[in-house]
Amino acid sequence: MSTPSAERGSVLASVRLAVRELTGYKADTTPAEVVLDANECAFPLPEELRRSIDRKIAAIDLRRYPDPEQRGLKRAIAERLNLDPAGLVVGNGSDELIAILITAFGERPAKVLFPTPTFAMYEITATCHGVLPIPLPLAPDFDLDVERMVEVAATEEPKLIFLATPNNPTGRRYDEGAILRLLEETGAVVVVDEAYADFCGATHTGLLARHDNLVVMRTLSKVGLAALRVGYLATNPLLAYQLDKVRLPYNVGAIPQVAATAALNRWEEIQPAIDQVVAERDRLAAALGAIGGVKPVPSDANFILFRVARAAAVHQGLLEQGVRIKRLSGPALEGHLRVTVGQPHENQRFLAALAAVVEALEEEG
Ligand SMILES: Cc1ncc(COP(=O)(O)O)c(C=O)c1O
Repeated sequence: MSTPSAERGSVLASVRLAVRELTGYKADTTPAEVVLDANECAFPLPEELRRSIDRKIAAIDLRRYPDPEQRGLKRAIAERLNLDPAGLVVGNGSDELIAILITAFGERPAKVLFPTPTFAMYEITATCHGVLPIPLPLAPDFDLDVERMVEVAATEEPKLIFLATPNNPTGRRYDEGAILRLLEETGAVVVVDEAYADFCGATHTGLLARHDNLVVMRTLSKVGLAALRVGYLATNPLLAYQLDKVRLPYNVGAIPQVAATAALNRWEEIQPAIDQVVAERDRLAAALGAIGGVKPVPSDANFILFRVARAAAVHQGLLEQGVRIKRLSGPALEGHLRVTVGQPHENQRFLAALAAVVEALEEEG
């Protein structure tokens, strides 16, 4: 039975205004032969590792709930990164961890500060939780204006600062000195989002012992395991204990737990794909810079932001040639597109299509 429209209108009017006005996160699902828009890892898992994961999944008793405390997975994370398992919280992707943090620290009227442009979910999740997002523009070269962040933190008193390093979509990483200033001079909990840290080798987990207001967040999504939806954060055990109360019971299924544990325990088989992405990234950046009118931003991540005239038309032209990359919005990203590093043949296909589209648009005038 359909709902009468007047009734439906009143239901919608009860949805919080901030949510009604929000533009939600929408992943592009336009079919394409070459998909380079979501910062996934293009290289497949080694076959032997994949088979071993499949065998472990086959042995799961599907009648039972998964381990609510994710003990095996936490042990594997702790061993790989040399961390205290008691300081870990595991989420259904780091997206869930962002929501857990905002729920735990978002006593209204709380505020959340982050430099922008950055990962959209900090702002979206804050808004959905009735917490005020404070986006603070990066410097024109996409570096962090740490002086300004400290100043704004002093007046606005945010409970949380989100800092993605390397940042998405710029690919730039920030100095540890800047992070230390935020930790020591703002009074906020600083969430260092290291979703792309594997591609630059820089991690800030070494600061955890000295800074109780630090949370380091990481994910398996960018290293070939995006389908699992496994992210984790590391912080001091007392804060982890509080955050764990916010986490939904059984938030990570048995299949992702088992698969992620197996992959973490055999990291030496994951690492070669990361090394290949880094090598391909550098080749791709050089090739992009060689196309007239295309200006890549130096990247420490597994994607490259680049500036190009008529970016929307270039994006559409690439789609027509079967190549999907990421269109970006917002004033600082005007004229920019973002491409994920692919396998060599995918990068070649993208570069050839880009050169052709740029040339055709130039001829069109
Ligand atoms: C900076 C940053 N943090 C977090 C995420 C989300 O990762 P997950 O797949 O673990 O939810 C992304 C995904 O693109 C990201 O770019």
